[in-house]
Amino acid sequence: MSEYTVFKARKYEKEHKSQVSLDERPEFHVTGQIGWINDPNGFSLYKNQYHLFFQYHPYSTFWGPMHWGHVKSDDFIKWEELPVAIAPDQEYDGVGCFSGSAVELDDGRQLLVYTGVSRINKDEKDIDIQQQCLAVGDGTNYEKISNNPVITTDMIPSGNSKLDFRDPKIWKENGKYYLVAGNRSADGSGDILLYESDDAFKWKFCETIDKCENKYGKMWECPDFFELDGNEVLLVSPQDMEASEPEFHAGNGTLVLLGHKGENKRFVRESIRTVDYGLDFYAPQTLLTKDGRRVMIAWMQNWDTCNQNHEERNIYGQMTIPRELEIRNGRLCQMPVREIAKYYDEEYIYTAEPGSADVSFDGVKGRVFDMTVDIEKCGDSGNGEFTLKLAKSDKYETNLNINVLKETMTFDRSRSGGRRDIVSTRVCKIDQKDGKVSIRILMDHNGVEVFANNGEQTMSSMIYTPMKGDNICFCLSENISARVEFHKIKTR
Ligand code: FRU
Repeated sequence: MSEYTVFKARKYEKEHKSQVSLDERPEFHVTGQIGWINDPNGFSLYKNQYHLFFQYHPYSTFWGPMHWGHVKSDDFIKWEELPVAIAPDQEYDGVGCFSGSAVELDDGRQLLVYTGVSRINKDEKDIDIQQQCLAVGDGTNYEKISNNPVITTDMIPSGNSKLDFRDPKIWKENGKYYLVAGNRSADGSGDILLYESDDAFKWKFCETIDKCENKYGKMWECPDFFELDGNEVLLVSPQDMEASEPEFHAGNGTLVLLGHKGENKRFVRESIRTVDYGLDFYAPQTLLTKDGRRVMIAWMQNWDTCNQNHEERNIYGQMTIPRELEIRNGRLCQMPVREIAKYYDEEYIYTAEPGSADVSFDGVKGRVFDMTVDIEKCGDSGNGEFTLKLAKSDKYETNLNINVLKETMTFDRSRSGGRRDIVSTRVCKIDQKDGKVSIRILMDHNGVEVFANNGEQTMSSMIYTPMKGDNICFCLSENISARVEFHKIKTR
Protein backbone atom coordinates (compact mmCIF):
# COMPACT_ATOMS: atom_id res chain seq x y z
CA MET A 1 0.00 0.00 0.00
CA SER A 2 1.39 3.40 -1.01
CA GLU A 3 2.08 5.98 1.66
CA TYR A 4 0.21 8.48 -0.56
CA THR A 5 -3.55 8.29 -0.94
CA VAL A 6 -6.27 10.68 -2.05
CA PHE A 7 -7.82 10.37 1.40
CA LYS A 8 -4.61 11.41 3.17
CA ALA A 9 -3.99 14.34 0.79
CA ARG A 10 -7.58 15.61 1.13
CA LYS A 11 -7.30 15.53 4.90
CA TYR A 12 -3.96 17.34 4.76
CA GLU A 13 -5.32 20.09 2.49
CA LYS A 14 -8.28 20.66 4.74
CA GLU A 15 -6.20 20.84 7.89
CA HIS A 16 -3.41 23.05 6.53
CA LYS A 17 -4.90 25.51 4.06
CA SER A 18 -5.67 28.04 6.80
CA GLN A 19 -1.89 28.57 7.16
CA VAL A 20 -2.02 30.57 3.94
CA SER A 21 -2.79 34.23 4.64
CA LEU A 22 -4.91 36.33 2.27
CA ASP A 23 -1.75 38.30 1.43
CA GLU A 24 0.05 35.17 0.33
CA ARG A 25 -2.81 33.89 -1.78
CA PRO A 26 -3.39 35.78 -5.06
CA GLU A 27 -6.94 37.06 -5.65
CA PHE A 28 -7.72 35.56 -9.02
CA HIS A 29 -4.84 33.29 -9.99
CA VAL A 30 -4.98 29.58 -9.23
CA THR A 31 -2.68 28.18 -6.55
CA GLY A 32 -2.78 24.97 -4.58
CA GLN A 33 -4.71 24.96 -1.33
CA ILE A 34 -1.37 24.34 0.37
CA GLY A 35 2.15 23.44 -0.76
CA TRP A 36 3.70 23.20 -4.21
CA ILE A 37 2.10 23.23 -7.68
CA ASN A 38 3.51 23.08 -11.20
CA ASP A 39 1.96 22.35 -14.64
CA PRO A 40 -1.71 22.89 -15.43
CA ASN A 41 -3.40 19.54 -16.18
CA GLY A 42 -6.83 18.60 -17.48
CA PHE A 43 -7.79 22.17 -18.42
CA SER A 44 -11.17 21.44 -19.97
CA LEU A 45 -14.89 21.99 -20.06
CA TYR A 46 -16.95 19.51 -18.08
CA LYS A 47 -20.71 19.83 -17.52
CA ASN A 48 -20.51 23.46 -18.63
CA GLN A 49 -17.84 24.46 -16.13
CA TYR A 50 -14.13 25.00 -16.61
CA HIS A 51 -12.05 22.47 -14.74
CA LEU A 52 -8.38 22.81 -14.01
CA PHE A 53 -6.16 20.21 -12.40
CA PHE A 54 -2.50 20.71 -11.64
CA GLN A 55 0.69 18.98 -10.60
CA TYR A 56 0.55 19.13 -6.84
CA HIS A 57 2.62 18.25 -3.81
CA PRO A 58 0.54 19.44 -0.87
CA TYR A 59 3.04 18.34 1.78
CA SER A 60 5.76 20.94 1.17
CA THR A 61 6.64 23.99 -0.92
CA PHE A 62 8.93 21.82 -3.06
CA TRP A 63 8.24 19.35 -5.87
CA GLY A 64 7.57 15.81 -4.59
CA PRO A 65 5.48 12.72 -5.45
CA MET A 66 2.94 14.22 -7.81
CA HIS A 67 -0.78 14.34 -7.09
CA TRP A 68 -3.41 16.18 -9.14
CA GLY A 69 -4.95 19.19 -7.37
CA HIS A 70 -8.27 20.46 -8.67
CA VAL A 71 -10.34 23.66 -9.06
CA LYS A 72 -13.29 24.70 -11.23
CA SER A 73 -14.80 27.95 -12.40
CA ASP A 74 -17.67 29.48 -14.34
CA ASP A 75 -15.63 32.43 -15.58
CA PHE A 76 -11.87 31.67 -15.30
CA ILE A 77 -11.48 34.31 -12.58
CA LYS A 78 -13.25 32.99 -9.50
CA TRP A 79 -12.17 29.44 -8.83
CA GLU A 80 -13.78 26.97 -6.48
CA GLU A 81 -11.32 24.71 -4.70
CA LEU A 82 -12.04 21.00 -5.01
CA PRO A 83 -10.34 18.18 -3.16
CA VAL A 84 -7.27 16.39 -4.56
CA ALA A 85 -8.32 14.33 -7.58
CA ILE A 86 -5.68 11.59 -7.81
CA ALA A 87 -2.68 10.46 -5.76
CA PRO A 88 0.33 8.24 -6.65
CA ASP A 89 -1.20 5.17 -5.01
CA GLN A 90 -0.70 2.37 -7.57
CA GLU A 91 2.27 0.33 -8.68
CA TYR A 92 2.12 1.87 -12.17
CA ASP A 93 2.09 5.47 -10.84
CA GLY A 94 3.72 5.16 -7.42
CA VAL A 95 6.55 7.57 -8.30
CA GLY A 96 4.04 10.16 -9.44
CA CYS A 97 0.90 11.02 -11.39
CA PHE A 98 2.57 13.31 -13.90
CA SER A 99 0.96 15.79 -16.27
CA GLY A 100 -1.97 15.06 -18.53
CA SER A 101 -5.34 16.27 -19.68
CA ALA A 102 -9.11 15.63 -19.48
CA VAL A 103 -12.17 15.25 -21.66
CA GLU A 104 -15.93 14.81 -21.13
CA LEU A 105 -17.05 11.37 -22.33
CA ASP A 106 -20.33 10.79 -24.17
CA ASP A 107 -21.68 8.90 -21.15
CA GLY A 108 -21.28 12.03 -18.98
CA ARG A 109 -18.18 10.94 -17.09
CA GLN A 110 -14.97 12.94 -16.98
CA LEU A 111 -11.86 11.14 -18.21
CA LEU A 112 -8.40 12.05 -16.91
CA VAL A 113 -5.39 10.95 -18.97
CA TYR A 114 -2.09 11.19 -17.13
CA THR A 115 1.43 9.84 -17.05
CA GLY A 116 2.00 7.14 -14.46
CA VAL A 117 5.62 6.97 -13.38
CA SER A 118 6.76 3.68 -11.86
CA ARG A 119 10.09 2.34 -10.65
CA ILE A 120 11.29 -0.95 -12.07
CA ASN A 121 14.49 -2.87 -11.60
CA LYS A 122 16.38 -3.53 -14.81
CA ASP A 123 19.89 -5.00 -14.98
CA GLU A 124 20.16 -4.48 -11.24
CA LYS A 125 19.42 -0.80 -11.53
CA ASP A 126 16.28 1.09 -10.49
CA ILE A 127 14.80 3.07 -13.34
CA ASP A 128 11.61 5.13 -13.61
CA ILE A 129 9.46 4.42 -16.64
CA GLN A 130 6.58 6.55 -17.89
CA GLN A 131 3.30 5.24 -19.33
CA GLN A 132 -0.13 6.73 -19.98
CA CYS A 133 -2.99 5.94 -17.60
CA LEU A 134 -6.68 6.76 -17.19
CA ALA A 135 -9.02 7.70 -14.38
CA VAL A 136 -12.76 8.36 -14.68
CA GLY A 137 -14.96 10.45 -12.44
CA ASP A 138 -17.88 12.76 -11.84
CA GLY A 139 -16.10 16.10 -11.55
CA THR A 140 -14.99 15.55 -7.94
CA ASN A 141 -14.08 11.91 -7.33
CA TYR A 142 -12.04 9.74 -9.68
CA GLU A 143 -11.28 6.08 -10.01
CA LYS A 144 -8.32 4.71 -11.92
CA ILE A 145 -9.31 2.05 -14.42
CA SER A 146 -8.34 -1.56 -13.84
CA ASN A 147 -6.32 -2.07 -17.03
CA ASN A 148 -3.87 0.82 -16.59
CA PRO A 149 -1.51 1.70 -18.15
CA VAL A 150 -3.37 2.01 -21.45
CA ILE A 151 -0.43 3.31 -23.49
CA THR A 152 2.63 1.38 -22.47
CA THR A 153 6.31 1.77 -23.28
CA ASP A 154 5.81 -1.01 -25.88
CA MET A 155 3.67 1.36 -27.90
CA ILE A 156 6.38 3.86 -28.81
CA PRO A 157 8.62 3.88 -31.90
CA SER A 158 11.45 1.39 -31.55
CA GLY A 159 14.60 2.79 -29.99
CA ASN A 160 12.72 5.65 -28.29
CA SER A 161 13.06 6.34 -24.58
CA LYS A 162 10.86 4.48 -22.09
CA LEU A 163 12.01 6.87 -19.37
CA ASP A 164 10.80 10.06 -21.04
CA PHE A 165 7.30 9.47 -22.38
CA ARG A 166 4.80 11.83 -20.86
CA ASP A 167 2.21 14.59 -20.73
CA PRO A 168 -0.68 13.29 -22.90
CA LYS A 169 -3.03 15.97 -24.25
CA ILE A 170 -6.35 14.49 -25.37
CA TRP A 171 -9.04 15.88 -27.69
CA LYS A 172 -12.05 14.63 -29.63
CA GLU A 173 -12.36 15.22 -33.36
CA ASN A 174 -14.98 13.83 -35.77
CA GLY A 175 -16.10 11.17 -33.31
CA LYS A 176 -12.57 9.90 -32.54
CA TYR A 177 -10.21 10.60 -29.69
CA TYR A 178 -6.61 11.66 -30.23
CA LEU A 179 -3.75 12.48 -27.96
CA VAL A 180 -0.25 13.85 -28.33
CA ALA A 181 2.54 13.05 -25.87
CA GLY A 182 6.22 13.95 -25.51
CA ASN A 183 8.92 11.30 -26.00
CA ARG A 184 12.63 11.13 -26.84
CA SER A 185 14.33 9.65 -29.91
CA ALA A 186 17.41 7.49 -29.48
CA ASP A 187 19.57 10.64 -29.91
CA GLY A 188 17.89 12.17 -26.84
CA SER A 189 15.91 14.80 -28.73
CA GLY A 190 12.18 15.39 -28.39
CA ASP A 191 9.55 13.58 -30.46
CA ILE A 192 5.84 14.40 -30.43
CA LEU A 193 3.81 11.20 -30.75
CA LEU A 194 0.18 11.02 -31.89
CA TYR A 195 -2.21 8.25 -30.74
CA GLU A 196 -5.82 7.56 -31.67
CA SER A 197 -8.77 5.73 -30.16
CA ASP A 198 -12.43 5.05 -30.90
CA ASP A 199 -13.53 5.01 -27.29
CA ALA A 200 -10.73 6.82 -25.37
CA PHE A 201 -9.85 3.55 -23.59
CA LYS A 202 -8.08 1.46 -26.25
CA TRP A 203 -5.30 3.35 -28.00
CA LYS A 204 -3.05 2.84 -30.95
CA PHE A 205 0.05 4.66 -32.11
CA CYS A 206 -0.43 6.77 -35.28
CA GLU A 207 2.56 8.86 -36.11
CA THR A 208 5.49 10.96 -34.90
CA ILE A 209 4.07 14.35 -35.87
CA ASP A 210 7.17 16.46 -35.22
CA LYS A 211 10.78 15.99 -34.14
CA CYS A 212 12.98 18.42 -32.28
CA GLU A 213 16.26 16.96 -33.61
CA ASN A 214 18.14 18.65 -30.80
CA LYS A 215 17.61 22.05 -32.38
CA TYR A 216 15.21 23.70 -29.97
CA GLY A 217 16.20 22.15 -26.66
CA LYS A 218 16.15 18.39 -26.04
CA MET A 219 13.12 16.68 -24.51
CA TRP A 220 9.89 18.46 -25.46
CA GLU A 221 7.45 18.39 -22.55
CA CYS A 222 3.73 19.11 -22.35
CA PRO A 223 2.66 19.27 -26.01
CA ASP A 224 -0.69 20.73 -27.05
CA PHE A 225 -1.98 20.53 -30.63
CA PHE A 226 -4.99 22.37 -32.02
CA GLU A 227 -6.36 24.38 -34.90
CA LEU A 228 -6.59 28.16 -34.61
CA ASP A 229 -7.57 30.73 -37.22
CA GLY A 230 -6.72 28.38 -40.09
CA ASN A 231 -3.35 27.25 -38.66
CA GLU A 232 -2.24 24.07 -36.95
CA VAL A 233 -0.65 25.10 -33.67
CA LEU A 234 1.80 22.97 -31.72
CA LEU A 235 2.79 24.19 -28.26
CA VAL A 236 5.76 22.52 -26.57
CA SER A 237 7.91 23.15 -23.51
CA PRO A 238 11.52 22.19 -24.29
CA GLN A 239 14.14 21.36 -21.69
CA ASP A 240 17.79 22.37 -22.08
CA MET A 241 17.38 25.11 -24.68
CA GLU A 242 20.45 27.01 -25.77
CA ALA A 243 19.89 30.74 -25.93
CA SER A 244 19.51 32.47 -29.25
CA GLU A 245 18.73 36.04 -28.24
CA PRO A 246 16.43 37.84 -28.41
CA GLU A 247 13.90 35.16 -29.41
CA PHE A 248 14.94 32.16 -27.31
CA HIS A 249 16.35 32.16 -23.79
CA ALA A 250 18.34 29.32 -22.29
CA GLY A 251 16.94 26.56 -20.09
CA ASN A 252 13.29 25.55 -20.00
CA GLY A 253 11.47 27.46 -22.71
CA THR A 254 8.05 27.45 -24.33
CA LEU A 255 7.62 27.33 -28.07
CA VAL A 256 4.74 27.93 -30.43
CA LEU A 257 5.05 26.26 -33.81
CA LEU A 258 2.60 27.35 -36.49
CA GLY A 259 2.09 25.18 -39.55
CA HIS A 260 -0.27 22.94 -41.43
CA LYS A 261 -1.17 19.26 -41.62
CA GLY A 262 1.02 17.21 -43.94
CA GLU A 263 1.03 13.57 -44.97
CA ASN A 264 -0.08 10.98 -42.41
CA LYS A 265 -1.26 13.64 -39.96
CA ARG A 266 2.29 14.95 -39.67
CA PHE A 267 2.77 18.56 -38.73
CA VAL A 268 4.56 20.79 -41.24
CA ARG A 269 6.20 23.76 -39.56
CA GLU A 270 6.01 27.27 -40.96
CA SER A 271 7.28 29.31 -38.01
CA ILE A 272 8.66 28.84 -34.52
CA ARG A 273 8.69 31.39 -31.73
CA THR A 274 8.71 31.78 -27.97
CA VAL A 275 5.25 31.78 -26.36
CA ASP A 276 6.02 34.11 -23.44
CA TYR A 277 9.21 36.13 -22.91
CA GLY A 278 8.97 36.49 -19.11
CA LEU A 279 10.96 34.80 -16.37
CA ASP A 280 8.21 32.49 -15.16
CA PHE A 281 6.14 30.67 -17.72
CA TYR A 282 6.05 26.98 -18.61
CA ALA A 283 3.92 24.03 -19.69
CA PRO A 284 0.94 25.90 -21.18
CA GLN A 285 -2.26 24.00 -21.94
CA THR A 286 -5.40 25.09 -23.79
CA LEU A 287 -9.15 24.44 -23.99
CA LEU A 288 -11.96 25.49 -26.27
CA THR A 289 -14.68 27.50 -24.49
CA LYS A 290 -18.42 27.13 -24.93
CA ASP A 291 -18.40 30.18 -27.21
CA GLY A 292 -15.49 28.91 -29.34
CA ARG A 293 -12.51 30.75 -27.82
CA ARG A 294 -9.18 28.95 -27.56
CA VAL A 295 -7.95 29.77 -24.03
CA MET A 296 -4.48 28.97 -22.67
CA ILE A 297 -3.23 28.74 -19.09
CA ALA A 298 0.34 28.06 -17.95
CA TRP A 299 2.38 27.42 -14.86
CA MET A 300 3.65 30.87 -13.87
CA GLN A 301 7.01 29.58 -12.82
CA ASN A 302 9.92 27.86 -14.49
CA TRP A 303 12.21 25.04 -13.37
CA ASP A 304 15.26 27.30 -13.68
CA THR A 305 13.81 30.11 -11.60
CA CYS A 306 11.64 28.37 -9.01
CA ASN A 307 14.28 28.15 -6.35
CA GLN A 308 13.82 31.27 -4.33
CA ASN A 309 12.00 32.36 -1.18
CA HIS A 310 10.46 28.96 -0.39
CA GLU A 311 11.17 29.33 3.30
CA GLU A 312 8.82 32.26 3.78
CA ARG A 313 5.88 30.65 1.96
CA ASN A 314 3.11 28.09 2.52
CA ILE A 315 2.10 27.88 -1.13
CA TYR A 316 4.55 27.84 -4.00
CA GLY A 317 3.65 28.16 -7.66
CA GLN A 318 0.61 29.58 -9.39
CA MET A 319 -1.03 29.67 -12.81
CA THR A 320 -1.14 32.58 -15.26
CA ILE A 321 -4.45 34.22 -15.97
CA PRO A 322 -6.24 32.21 -18.68
CA ARG A 323 -5.56 33.93 -22.01
CA GLU A 324 -7.59 34.14 -25.20
CA LEU A 325 -5.50 33.15 -28.20
CA GLU A 326 -5.61 34.49 -31.72
CA ILE A 327 -3.29 34.35 -34.73
CA ARG A 328 -2.64 37.86 -36.06
CA ASN A 329 -0.10 38.54 -38.80
CA GLY A 330 1.36 35.07 -38.46
CA ARG A 331 1.90 35.43 -34.72
CA LEU A 332 0.24 33.86 -31.70
CA CYS A 333 -1.32 36.71 -29.70
CA GLN A 334 -2.61 36.37 -26.14
CA MET A 335 -4.93 38.57 -24.11
CA PRO A 336 -6.38 38.03 -20.62
CA VAL A 337 -9.83 36.43 -20.77
CA ARG A 338 -12.46 39.12 -21.21
CA GLU A 339 -14.22 37.97 -18.02
CA ILE A 340 -11.66 39.92 -15.94
CA ALA A 341 -13.53 43.16 -16.75
CA LYS A 342 -16.47 41.96 -14.61
CA TYR A 343 -14.24 42.45 -11.58
CA TYR A 344 -13.05 46.00 -12.29
CA ASP A 345 -13.50 48.22 -9.28
CA GLU A 346 -12.21 51.82 -9.12
CA GLU A 347 -11.04 53.30 -12.43
CA TYR A 348 -8.48 56.09 -12.94
CA ILE A 349 -7.38 57.76 -16.16
CA TYR A 350 -4.35 60.08 -16.36
CA THR A 351 -1.87 61.51 -18.82
CA ALA A 352 1.81 61.15 -17.95
CA GLU A 353 3.73 64.11 -19.33
CA PRO A 354 7.02 63.99 -21.26
CA GLY A 355 10.05 64.32 -18.99
CA SER A 356 8.24 63.10 -15.83
CA ALA A 357 10.58 61.48 -13.33
CA ASP A 358 9.11 59.13 -10.73
CA VAL A 359 5.65 60.64 -10.97
CA SER A 360 2.72 58.87 -9.30
CA PHE A 361 -1.03 59.41 -9.56
CA ASP A 362 -3.79 59.39 -6.97
CA GLY A 363 -5.50 56.00 -6.87
CA VAL A 364 -2.90 54.35 -9.11
CA LYS A 365 -1.44 52.10 -6.46
CA GLY A 366 -1.70 48.56 -5.17
CA ARG A 367 -0.96 44.95 -6.06
CA VAL A 368 -4.21 43.83 -7.73
CA PHE A 369 -4.96 45.71 -10.91
CA ASP A 370 -5.29 45.76 -14.68
CA MET A 371 -3.57 48.80 -16.22
CA THR A 372 -3.19 49.81 -19.84
CA VAL A 373 -0.56 52.38 -20.81
CA ASP A 374 -0.63 53.84 -24.32
CA ILE A 375 2.84 55.18 -24.94
CA GLU A 376 3.56 57.64 -27.75
CA LYS A 377 6.66 59.27 -29.11
CA CYS A 378 6.05 63.02 -29.23
CA GLY A 379 9.31 64.65 -30.31
CA ASP A 380 12.77 64.00 -31.64
CA SER A 381 15.06 64.87 -28.77
CA GLY A 382 15.05 62.24 -26.08
CA ASN A 383 15.89 58.57 -25.80
CA GLY A 384 12.35 57.26 -26.29
CA GLU A 385 12.08 55.52 -22.93
CA PHE A 386 9.16 54.79 -20.68
CA THR A 387 9.75 53.10 -17.33
CA LEU A 388 7.16 51.80 -14.93
CA LYS A 389 8.15 51.02 -11.35
CA LEU A 390 5.85 48.47 -9.76
CA ALA A 391 5.46 47.11 -6.22
CA LYS A 392 7.67 49.94 -5.06
CA SER A 393 8.70 50.84 -1.52
CA ASP A 394 11.83 52.49 -0.13
CA LYS A 395 13.60 49.18 -0.45
CA TYR A 396 12.05 47.37 -3.42
CA GLU A 397 10.96 47.99 -6.97
CA THR A 398 10.30 46.03 -10.15
CA ASN A 399 10.90 47.82 -13.44
CA LEU A 400 9.24 47.51 -16.81
CA ASN A 401 11.03 49.53 -19.46
CA ILE A 402 9.82 50.24 -23.00
CA ASN A 403 12.21 51.77 -25.49
CA VAL A 404 10.16 53.02 -28.42
CA LEU A 405 13.26 53.80 -30.51
CA LYS A 406 14.99 50.47 -29.97
CA GLU A 407 11.65 48.59 -29.93
CA THR A 408 12.47 46.66 -26.79
CA MET A 409 10.62 45.72 -23.63
CA THR A 410 12.70 44.89 -20.54
CA PHE A 411 11.46 43.39 -17.30
CA ASP A 412 13.78 43.68 -14.30
CA ARG A 413 13.03 42.19 -10.91
CA SER A 414 16.57 42.34 -9.54
CA ARG A 415 15.43 44.68 -6.74
CA SER A 416 12.12 42.98 -6.01
CA GLY A 417 13.13 41.03 -2.90
CA GLY A 418 14.42 37.73 -4.30
CA ARG A 419 16.89 35.85 -2.14
CA ARG A 420 18.69 33.82 -4.81
CA ASP A 421 21.14 34.91 -7.47
CA ILE A 422 19.01 33.75 -10.38
CA VAL A 423 18.23 35.42 -13.69
CA SER A 424 16.16 38.52 -13.00
CA THR A 425 15.92 40.43 -16.26
CA ARG A 426 14.50 39.58 -19.62
CA VAL A 427 14.40 41.64 -22.82
CA CYS A 428 12.19 41.07 -25.85
CA LYS A 429 11.58 42.79 -29.16
CA ILE A 430 8.32 44.66 -29.61
CA ASP A 431 7.04 46.77 -32.50
CA GLN A 432 6.20 50.46 -32.45
CA LYS A 433 3.58 51.62 -34.91
CA ASP A 434 3.73 55.33 -35.80
CA GLY A 435 5.70 55.87 -32.59
CA LYS A 436 3.04 54.10 -30.47
CA VAL A 437 3.28 51.10 -28.17
CA SER A 438 0.47 49.81 -25.98
CA ILE A 439 1.24 47.90 -22.80
CA ARG A 440 -1.19 46.13 -20.51
CA ILE A 441 -0.07 45.02 -17.06
CA LEU A 442 -1.99 42.62 -14.90
CA MET A 443 -0.80 42.35 -11.35
CA ASP A 444 -2.08 40.06 -8.61
CA HIS A 445 0.05 40.13 -5.45
CA ASN A 446 3.30 38.39 -6.50
CA GLY A 447 2.53 37.88 -10.18
CA VAL A 448 3.10 40.36 -13.01
CA GLU A 449 1.85 39.65 -16.53
CA VAL A 450 2.63 42.09 -19.33
CA PHE A 451 0.85 42.13 -22.71
CA ALA A 452 2.46 44.29 -25.41
CA ASN A 453 0.50 45.61 -28.39
CA ASN A 454 -2.67 43.60 -27.75
CA GLY A 455 -0.79 40.47 -26.81
CA GLU A 456 1.78 40.27 -29.64
CA GLN A 457 4.35 39.63 -26.91
CA THR A 458 3.78 38.69 -23.31
CA MET A 459 6.07 38.54 -20.28
CA SER A 460 5.03 36.68 -17.14
CA SER A 461 7.12 36.84 -14.00
CA MET A 462 6.89 36.32 -10.26
CA ILE A 463 8.25 38.81 -7.74
CA TYR A 464 8.57 38.12 -4.04
CA THR A 465 8.12 41.68 -2.79
CA PRO A 466 6.35 42.06 0.58
CA MET A 467 2.81 43.36 0.06
CA LYS A 468 3.67 46.74 1.62
CA GLY A 469 5.57 47.55 -1.58
CA ASP A 470 2.53 48.89 -3.40
CA ASN A 471 3.50 52.18 -5.06
CA ILE A 472 3.55 52.67 -8.81
CA CYS A 473 5.75 55.34 -10.46
CA PHE A 474 6.20 56.49 -14.04
CA CYS A 475 9.35 57.85 -15.71
CA LEU A 476 9.19 59.25 -19.24
CA SER A 477 11.91 60.73 -21.38
CA GLU A 478 11.49 64.15 -23.03
CA ASN A 479 9.98 62.71 -26.19
CA ILE A 480 7.48 60.27 -24.66
CA SER A 481 3.96 60.80 -23.37
CA ALA A 482 1.52 58.21 -22.07
CA ARG A 483 -2.14 57.70 -21.32
CA VAL A 484 -2.74 55.58 -18.26
CA GLU A 485 -5.95 53.65 -17.67
CA PHE A 486 -5.96 51.90 -14.33
CA HIS A 487 -8.56 49.47 -13.00
CA LYS A 488 -8.41 48.10 -9.51
CA ILE A 489 -9.63 44.52 -9.45
CA LYS A 490 -11.80 43.21 -6.67
CA THR A 491 -12.80 39.57 -6.45
CA ARG A 492 -12.99 39.08 -2.69
C1 FRU B 1 6.83 19.79 -16.87
C2 FRU B 1 6.98 18.44 -16.22
C3 FRU B 1 6.23 17.39 -17.02
C4 FRU B 1 5.94 16.34 -16.00
C5 FRU B 1 5.68 17.16 -14.77
C6 FRU B 1 6.11 16.53 -13.48
O1 FRU B 1 6.97 20.86 -16.00
O2 FRU B 1 8.34 18.13 -16.08
O3 FRU B 1 6.92 16.92 -18.15
O4 FRU B 1 4.86 15.56 -16.35
O5 FRU B 1 6.37 18.38 -14.94
O6 FRU B 1 5.65 17.24 -12.39
